[in-house]
Amino acid sequence: MKITLDISKVFDFIPEKQIFERATAAESANIALENGTGKGNDFLGWLHLPSSITEAVLNEIQKTADDLRSKCEVVVIIGIGGSYLGAKAVIDALSGSFDNWTKKPLIVYAGHQIGEDYLHELSEFLNGKSFGIINISKSGTTTEPALAFRLLRMQLENAVGIAEAQKRIIAITDKSRGALRTLATQEGYKTFVIPDDVGGRFSVLTPVGLLPIAVAGIDIRQLIAGAVKMEKATGAAVPFAQNPAAIYAATRNELYKQGKKIEILANFNPKLHYVAEWWKQLFGESEGKENKGIFNASVDFTTDLHSMGQWIQEGERTIFETVLSVAKSRFIVEVSGAKTDMDGLNYLAGKRIDYINKMAELGTQQAHVAGGVPNIRIEIPELNEFYLGQLLYFFERACGISGYLLGVNPFDQPGVEAYKKNMFALLKKPEC
Ligand code: PA5
Repeated sequence: MKITLDISKVFDFIPEKQIFERATAAESANIALENGTGKGNDFLGWLHLPSSITEAVLNEIQKTADDLRSKCEVVVIIGIGGSYLGAKAVIDALSGSFDNWTKKPLIVYAGHQIGEDYLHELSEFLNGKSFGIINISKSGTTTEPALAFRLLRMQLENAVGIAEAQKRIIAITDKSRGALRTLATQEGYKTFVIPDDVGGRFSVLTPVGLLPIAVAGIDIRQLIAGAVKMEKATGAAVPFAQNPAAIYAATRNELYKQGKKIEILANFNPKLHYVAEWWKQLFGESEGKENKGIFNASVDFTTDLHSMGQWIQEGERTIFETVLSVAKSRFIVEVSGAKTDMDGLNYLAGKRIDYINKMAELGTQQAHVAGGVPNIRIEIPELNEFYLGQLLYFFERACGISGYLLGVNPFDQPGVEAYKKNMFALLKKPEC
């Protein structure tokens, strides 16, 4: 079984024929990825990560994860952007909604912003607890994670001593460059390498994502197996009509050309909130350049139907929606019948909550399409490692194709330097 893509609710806005006329361009973009002939071709290492990751690497990641799991009540994942979003997306999607109160080790995050209160509260929370740190930074010089690591490393060293702290700190970084690599070598931390040719937002299937995911007790082999399946299903030799990544890329590119400048990723399962955050980074950072690119937004339904739902239904008609729908929920909860129907819900007695959610989804699709919002639907058979692996790779491949259709280099991010330059000048960083 595979995740499936349905673009039929776009045809009221763009004829199917017009999308299929993009077949050659999308296939060529996919071939350019495969052959490394397009822009940013020194960052294509992610393309075959699923099928090329070795048993030895997976074993090493699992062994390190098991070691941290046995030692720590809490593991802090330090990283920003592509260095934490993929892990958080998978961990949140596959964890119980209340695991934070019960599960060991508890996974928490730092270095993804510069909130002073957050860091204070985290430090208080870690006080007296047995914790470890996974510090992730490809460049090894990013300010946000470096700051968090300086504080938490000292806290850990003070709590358990330098020798034990060294055993509970894992660094994931470049093989030779950057301050984190230097520090890791000097302190003798266990390290994993982020390959040179894999950019941050495409790194979820490297140790960047896999180690935290394994620490959370999630099956990384199944995640990879799902990604391998999607790698095959979206390969350069797969004809357009059978290639979901190429179809998704071409459809959103056609919509963009018709003035649909905003893509809203909507989920009907709150566990997918961070998958949307990861997706926003993947597409936003890859395509938003040269004064071009779809703006990526996201909503959690039905929650946001009671807020942004109004805008989506009746606001400016520059949007389209991509819905993530999980076909089968894990548990069964039915509406019970009541003797007195005071709340008026007896008409739903015996119905599953998921059935009601699905009707909300269908009703929303009908309303939004009627209101002028083209709808793309991605169905995930169920929330597990295998299908999430498929979904992640599907979006990565689609993003590569889509970036090439747009005519940009999807693998650089020159725009993120602007704020850093100003911030460093304001902070009087020595070399500025
Ligand atoms: O996708 C990217 O390249 C970025 O979002 C980076 O992941 C992010 O800026 C963090 O960079 P680093 O891992 O070098 O600290």
